[in-house]
Amino acid sequence: MKYDLRQLPIDRVLVSPSLLAADFGNLDRDIAEVTAAGADMLHLDVMDGSFVPNISFGVPVIKSIRKNSTLLFDAHLMIDHPGKYAEVFSSAGADHITFHVESLDDPAEVIAAIRGAGCTAGISVKPKTPASAIMPYLDKVDMVLVMTVEPGFGGQSFMADQMPKVAEIRREILRRGLKVQLQTDGGIDAKTSPVAAAYGSNLQVAGTAVFRHPEGMKKAVEIIHGSTAALDSNLK
Ligand code: DX5
Ligand code: ZN
Repeated sequence: MKYDLRQLPIDRVLVSPSLLAADFGNLDRDIAEVTAAGADMLHLDVMDGSFVPNISFGVPVIKSIRKNSTLLFDAHLMIDHPGKYAEVFSSAGADHITFHVESLDDPAEVIAAIRGAGCTAGISVKPKTPASAIMPYLDKVDMVLVMTVEPGFGGQSFMADQMPKVAEIRREILRRGLKVQLQTDGGIDAKTSPVAAAYGSNLQVAGTAVFRHPEGMKKAVEIIHGSTAALDSNLK
């Protein structure tokens, strides 16, 4: 049984904590804590050392944590050939799979492979890629992910110059009445979360700001949920 992203609303700010910032020696403990803190899902950053200049974790880790977690697994594949791996990540326990439009595979085929594997599908753009690259797929996906850092590493600074792109995509989602989650990922914290929300990001990934929050994960999740007050306030 898969968790279904399509059941989640797009009119309030949800949080997907990135496991990349957790303690890899105590994954089950950190996942239990972030679940109790009220996380809406868990963001899994998979990197292949080719699409991005870093290697994170893959199938065996996801399989292991799946046994003890009841969260929706939101896999973010930063890999060259996402289509080829949709099935294995689904079998490992991913509920949702986001791939990059800049990957080497044909986006329509990747979306079909993800759906064929029983997952919901998301498409992502790196900072230098315009919104127009994903527009042809907007009515074929359940999520668009706008990167607010260059993918590859946690702990980088939020790129505010990505906000016009977020607004452009959110406006189109609302105009067409689509139920598409608009995710931002990279450098999200108490200061930048309301900014991303104001431009229309209703689903926010946060690694460092959740798993390493000085006042604990519950406080961190509360802060990001609080950005609902700012949602769409800067959509012109
Ligand atoms: C970067 C990853 C992000 C990253 C976010 O390539 O996609 O999910 O872990 O980390 P923070 O929130 O620390 O910027
Ligand atoms: Zn990510």
